Amino acid sequence: MSQIRRAIYAGSFDPLTYGHLNIIERGCRLVDELVVAVAHNHSKRNVFSPQERVDMIQATVEERGLRGVRASLFEGLLVDHARSIGAQVLLRGLRSVKDFEYEFQMALTNKELGGDLETVFLVTEGKYAHLASSLIREIAAMGGPVTGMVPPGIESRLVERLRNNRS
Ligand code: COA
Repeated sequence: MSQIRRAIYAGSFDPLTYGHLNIIERGCRLVDELVVAVAHNHSKRNVFSPQERVDMIQATVEERGLRGVRASLFEGLLVDHARSIGAQVLLRGLRSVKDFEYEFQMALTNKELGGDLETVFLVTEGKYAHLASSLIREIAAMGGPVTGMVPPGIESRLVERLRNNRS
């Protein structure tokens, strides 16, 4: 029996953007299962809790009918989580050459730590290359429009959360 090909796409996803979704939609066609893994990073200040982000990603992939994609939460080293769920591939999105240096360093480090795990990069579609969760959070916090940057379900949650934070 052939082995299930499983990839892991990790990040903060605070919030998930159309750029991330583009990588998920294209990445899931390359493997049997794609696990979108939300990193529980205690040192980062977040708008949404890690579990809220997992739930929003799960709802978005279900709405879009993306088969073989599920969201999960992890703490600690990505390579340990990848091993524990039996993933062979670390999927990453590359938006620009600016991302490359950091991604290169991370891929080499994960290779040293992760043995057989391979990092695979997908180049983000040009129309999403400028998107970053931090900018989207900033725009939404100042009452600006983020339509077209994040899926509608996430946009409404973001606006609601930041409005409540401001009041
Ligand atoms: N489209 C749109 N935005 C993208 C994107 C894409 N394809 N790829 C990344 N981004 C954005 C993210 O939203 C994030 O935005 P922000 O910084 O403005 O909020 C930014 O680019 C950085 O993304 P990323 O590089 O994925 O960082 P991250 O913080 O989201 O996730 C981890 C980094 C979780 C993958 C990494 O820290 C990790 O593996 N941590 C676990 C601990 C570990 O193993 N450490 C050793 C690593 S060698």
